[in-house]
Amino acid sequence: MNLALIGCGQMGRGHARAAHDLGFPVVAFCDLHREAATQARDEYGCGYVTTDPGRILRDEEIDLVIIATHHDAHHPLALAAAQAGKHILLEKPMCLTVSQAVEVAEAVDKAGVKMAINCKFRIAPTVQKAKHLIPHPRISHGQLAMGDSSQGRSAWIWDKDDGGGLLISTAVHTVDLLSYLMGCKAEQVYAEGRLFGTAKTTMETSDALAGTIRWDNGGVSTLISTDQGFNPMVSKWFHEIWDGERSAVFSAHTSRVDFGGCEIAYLDVRELPEDEQRRASMLLNLIDAIREETRPLCDQWEGVQTVAICNALEAAARTGRPQRVWR
Ligand SMILES: NC(=O)c1ccc[n+]([C@@H]2O[C@H](COP(=O)([O-])OP(=O)(O)OC[C@H]3O[C@@H](n4cnc5c(N)ncnc54)[C@H](O)[C@@H]3O)[C@@H](O)[C@H]2O)c1
Repeated sequence: MNLALIGCGQMGRGHARAAHDLGFPVVAFCDLHREAATQARDEYGCGYVTTDPGRILRDEEIDLVIIATHHDAHHPLALAAAQAGKHILLEKPMCLTVSQAVEVAEAVDKAGVKMAINCKFRIAPTVQKAKHLIPHPRISHGQLAMGDSSQGRSAWIWDKDDGGGLLISTAVHTVDLLSYLMGCKAEQVYAEGRLFGTAKTTMETSDALAGTIRWDNGGVSTLISTDQGFNPMVSKWFHEIWDGERSAVFSAHTSRVDFGGCEIAYLDVRELPEDEQRRASMLLNLIDAIREETRPLCDQWEGVQTVAICNALEAAARTGRPQRVWR
């Protein structure tokens, strides 16, 4: 299995390191900035460096492409990679709009390749345990609450084209996790949103959004997406589920889950052997899916649903009206 990486920034280098540690070193590195690709190659891989994604997509030796660019490039690169017959690990969000995501998903289906979106909470041992113990939640809550996202090295998420705002860029993890835990399709959403940060006014989106999601099994979720302050008690990410008898509360960036009414009281990933922690990897899950011809944990159509929910929540906050979710 030969891996290539397109986008050798912070997350790309993380992928290269993780792939190396899992025994699948990246053998081709692409970035618009040659020095970024060279640095990633020298630190965590081998093989060639290029500024042309086409060179990687034409390379018949490459089986799987990891795409870790800013969000505007996800659609054209993932589409081209599928059309070139490559398996794909695509960073979140799958795309910025549901129409782009559907186009990519259809291309993946047509090419018969495997795609996974790196919505990594799905593979966390805490989430897998909760899926097993509480398979059919009725109600849930998901939350992203962090410090000002317009400051620091990820401020680009507020660029209209590059990023798309806080919900689709970052809280997309929460939307995806709710979707996975509820285990069904979203029907309708509603949201109220406000933009408090003066540095973010290039976009018609929110830095404080409170939403609801109705699922097609009758379940409901609430959601908060905000950068109005970090809460050290529950961490940047906080999720809860209930099924009528049992409950689970995820904290510490989803490293810990506390159960109510279940056979175990809690699971803390930090207490697991290091190898077990490392193997909770979306890349490994995708490679297993390729080899065993199974579905990856977050495939192209699950990626579409998450983008569709995010787009619908934004539309609800903008219009003040409930929105049906594309399906
Ligand atoms: N799954 C997670 O937990 C997680 C965490 C952080 C970031 N991310 C995601 O990872 C992706 C990258 O984020 P980042 O923080 O690493 O950004 P970054 O700015 O550090 O790196 C992005 C890199 O992509 C390169 N690039 C942009 N367009 C390109 C193109 N067309 N071809 C080749 N290279 C291109 C840039 O030059 C840059 O080096 C985003 O999708 C982001 O949302 C995911």
